[in-house]
Amino acid sequence: MTCPDRVRIVEVGPRDGLQNEAAHVPTREKVAFVNRLADAGLSAIEVSAFVSPTWVPQMADAADVFAGITRRSGVRYTALVPNLKGLARARDAGVDEVAIFPAASETFSRRNLNQTIEEAFAAGKAVCGEARAAGLRVRAYLSTSFGCPFEGAVPPARVAELAARLIDMGASEVSLSDTIGVAHPGQVAAVLSQVATRRIPVGRVALHFHDTRGTALVNVYAGLEAGVTTFDASAGGLGGCPYAPGATGNLATEDLVYLLDGLGIATGVRLDAVIDASRAIEPHVGHPLPSRVFRAGEATRLRTPS
Ligand code: HMG
Ligand code: MG
Repeated sequence: MTCPDRVRIVEVGPRDGLQNEAAHVPTREKVAFVNRLADAGLSAIEVSAFVSPTWVPQMADAADVFAGITRRSGVRYTALVPNLKGLARARDAGVDEVAIFPAASETFSRRNLNQTIEEAFAAGKAVCGEARAAGLRVRAYLSTSFGCPFEGAVPPARVAELAARLIDMGASEVSLSDTIGVAHPGQVAAVLSQVATRRIPVGRVALHFHDTRGTALVNVYAGLEAGVTTFDASAGGLGGCPYAPGATGNLATEDLVYLLDGLGIATGVRLDAVIDASRAIEPHVGHPLPSRVFRAGEATRLRTPS
């Protein structure tokens, strides 16, 4: 296959990872986690979520986390925002970018946002308009792009239609999200080819995999073959969505970097330093982190080109 020379990794561990943890992770540890990830060379880090603290108590300290981090130049610090209230909080905290997160299936949209798809798109459009007027970049996730925990299959043509609407409303990129980790490579190719028929440049498409069934890396490979150059990942493989039954950890940043290093694709990310960040957060989440490369530990270090 023709590999891209370079891939951008969007690190979502501090948000998608920690939002689903039962343990209370102290704010100072979240801050240290974000700082370590920036030191590892990750240039886009989703720090937290300005969502309802009733809905997701783990993200209630979003403003404090932003206030505590050391901003590294060249790093984009982002956050989830579901509505204008979230945008106002995010702007006060000094985010570089916000992410809206509607879904491609009706039941998940209601469960996750208490809104229909259309209501969520209307809220997202309002966020896009205000954020862009304030000079902020907007990213959009499209949850359940590869399947819904309540409705099952989601037609690729529907995903493409909704992705095109997100680009049209001003999102700089759409992250097609496999919320519950059901995607397989053939499906990735099918969804991406539908998206291409909507004239969305592949440079504006990102892929967001959860690794529930162990298919995340092979799905990345299918994405690379289709020309995708932005992938979301979570240090240690932390992650899941509290409103998606069965959703387990995200594709681990370590596993992704190991694959890309091996393929000779540049990321700017130092694998050893990501492992160090995961090792430091692991005691605070109170269970072993699932990333295979992280678990391989010292053996991985020996195999990492310096
Ligand atoms: P609602 O209860 O319908 O909201 O929730 P509401 O508008 O009726 O407001 C209720 C209360 O919440 C009010 O306060 C609002 O002010 C407050 P009260 O008057 O009762 O005191 N409120 C807020 N407070 C702080 N920040 C806000 C905010 N908005 C309202 N932004 C809402 C609707 C959208 C707020 C709620 O459903 C919500 O926050 N949902 C977010 C759920 C979530 O974060 N899920 C996980 C992230 S998504 C994910 O993981 C998927 C992803 O990774 C991609 C993938 O894998 O698929 C991105
Ligand atoms: Mg996710």
